[in-house]
Amino acid sequence: MRIFSGIQPTGRKHLGNYIGAIRQYVEGQDRGDPAIYSIVDLHAITVAYEPDQLRTNLYDTTAALLAAGLDPERCILARQSDIPEHTELCWLLSGVCAHGDLNRMTQFKDKSGQQKDLVSAGLFIYPLLQAADVLAYRADEVPVGEDQRQHIELMREIARRFNERFGETLVVPEHRIPEIGARIMDLQEPNRKMSTSVGADSGRVYLLETEKETRKKLGSAVTDSGREVKRGEGKEGIANLIGIYAVARGVSEDEVEAEFEGAGYGDFKKAVADAVVEFLAPVRERYPEIREDEAEIERILAQGAARARELAAETLSDVRAAMGVGVPRS
Ligand code: AMP
Ligand code: TRP
Repeated sequence: MRIFSGIQPTGRKHLGNYIGAIRQYVEGQDRGDPAIYSIVDLHAITVAYEPDQLRTNLYDTTAALLAAGLDPERCILARQSDIPEHTELCWLLSGVCAHGDLNRMTQFKDKSGQQKDLVSAGLFIYPLLQAADVLAYRADEVPVGEDQRQHIELMREIARRFNERFGETLVVPEHRIPEIGARIMDLQEPNRKMSTSVGADSGRVYLLETEKETRKKLGSAVTDSGREVKRGEGKEGIANLIGIYAVARGVSEDEVEAEFEGAGYGDFKKAVADAVVEFLAPVRERYPEIREDEAEIERILAQGAARARELAAETLSDVRAAMGVGVPRS
């Protein structure tokens, strides 16, 4: 089973990224044959950014993934821009990707609304590059959070259309969205997902911040005027904390509700903070040493790119042949 996922080197990764995506990447290493994880710098240039900051963010994100437990001996960890097959396939697939489908993407609508100076063409075709990322490896499974469901549907449609038009060439991938924690909500505005770019810092727990900061944010998380630690109508804040606690402790949400029956919100929030601090401690402890050695990070990425390119090149050769593009294969 081939596994592929991508993560953007933007901003600081948060608890939503960790619970929705990164912990699934770590788990996938042992099922993946191989598991390929890409730091997608070419996706990050579709909105306003600073070149120096992009490099720094790329090292931050790669180091965070390594600290979270990705092991370059058990998975392929690569930088998207090191593998030109991604961009080539993006173009080749553009002929079987409907403009109308791209126009329906909710992430494009959200993100384009946030741009101040320019809505780039890149932002519009972002999901097409994402499709190429996955299809280039003929991946079977794509671990992501809930917000990527629509993008995965689109890449499935693109693969199907390609195969119909040019013959069976690409694998139609399946998403892997976790049962609990696929959509971690903002701690201050629990009707909206925790996000790198929207809302105040107090609404998101960063993967890399101090224990004190994490405790403070969880301690002041918005709840409701009721008093029961239960999911339900108007209880988005508590429901979010129940999900977070369940994942951090490896139990079900029903078990969390049973455990905190009769407890006050204050005690519950303190327990959530303890659980999250413990859950993130190994990542936080390993990170500084890994982040310091940029040469080693580059070495890992170069090794990953070499392995990834071999796989992608095979697919590209088949795609070009099927499409009648380039020098004929003998
Ligand atoms: P990004 O940082 O946008 O590249 O996202 C990386 C991964 O984190 C993707 O698989 C997203 O679906 C996932 N993700 C982002 N925000 C959340 C969230 N609030 N809850 C759960 N998963 C998330
Ligand atoms: N768009 C994804 C996100 O914002 C990142 C991504 C890029 C991705 N390429 C991918 C995710 C391929 C899964 C597969 O989270």
